[in-house]
Amino acid sequence: MEEEIKKAEVLAEAYQYIREYRDKIFVIKFGGSILKLPNVKENILKDVAFLEAVGVKTLLVCGGGPFINEEIEKRGKKPAFVDGLRVTDSGTMKIVEDILFGIRDNTLEYLKGTLKVKASSLQPSEKFMAAKKVHYQKGEEIVDLGFVGQAGSINTDYVKARLEEERVLVMAPIAYGEDNNLYNINGDAVASAAAEWLKAEKLIFITDVLGVMRNPQNPDTLISILQVSEAEELIEKNIVKEGMIPKVKSGVSSIKKGVKKVHIISGNIPHSIVLEVFTEHGIGTEICN
Ligand SMILES: Nc1ncnc2c1ncn2[C@@H]1O[C@H](COP(=O)(O)OP(=O)(O)O)[C@@H](O)[C@H]1O
Ligand SMILES: [Mg+2]
Repeated sequence: MEEEIKKAEVLAEAYQYIREYRDKIFVIKFGGSILKLPNVKENILKDVAFLEAVGVKTLLVCGGGPFINEEIEKRGKKPAFVDGLRVTDSGTMKIVEDILFGIRDNTLEYLKGTLKVKASSLQPSEKFMAAKKVHYQKGEEIVDLGFVGQAGSINTDYVKARLEEERVLVMAPIAYGEDNNLYNINGDAVASAAAEWLKAEKLIFITDVLGVMRNPQNPDTLISILQVSEAEELIEKNIVKEGMIPKVKSGVSSIKKGVKKVHIISGNIPHSIVLEVFTEHGIGTEICN
């Protein structure tokens, strides 16, 4: 009996959040790193189905970096990077499209087929987001990275209308540039731009670590609440590195532009989204002003 009452208490605790978030927009990005682990995608998507059931509108951005590298090598090419940015010629872009659209389509299939969620995908041809070609400055030089873009403007009326209808929209971080070529954009940056344009209630990055840590090797050093001022300092001090940089940078940008909450959480903990969103104590890192 006691156990049953505890379960009911958990649901009762969730009630206030369920009321608060009904009809609000969440932007959720999951990365390639987490997809490498078994059952993780399924775990994440079950939580997305829960969000849909309680009336949240979700835009899901699917990344896939590590799979792209693997595929490039499989096809006998060498991934090339300049300061961590992938040099993307037309052959590489074709691989990026195959992998990222593939992940997007699989995700959608699982949501609709297995979880029976009312979901749909957003295609680049709908021109709901514009890409701007990156002209990367390295020292005195401008380096041509090929089809690497930045997120430009988003047609918020269009995306909001689609979310009204479909409740869960799945997209790849790929968009058309002014020259009508497809550009690959960093998934974290796409999620953050979308959250800003849509004035999302929450932006959630799901990754393969607990959150931002002072020492990534030691889970005890997890930072539960990260102030914007400290976030910038952690990047400067090289404590936040590599793939965590775009998450923290874009998280800070989104908070400054009015997104209410930004969370960085692990996809490796079952029900991490539900835990973070519907209980009093979150489990990962929350970026705050
Ligand atoms: N201070 C930090 N705290 C936590 N993770 C960090 C930190 N600095 C660097 N990282 C790295 O960032 C990685 C997450 O980014 P990334 O590999 O790009 O994942 P995703 O595929 O989710 O974008 C972690 O696996 C970790 O190795
Ligand atoms: Mg990444």
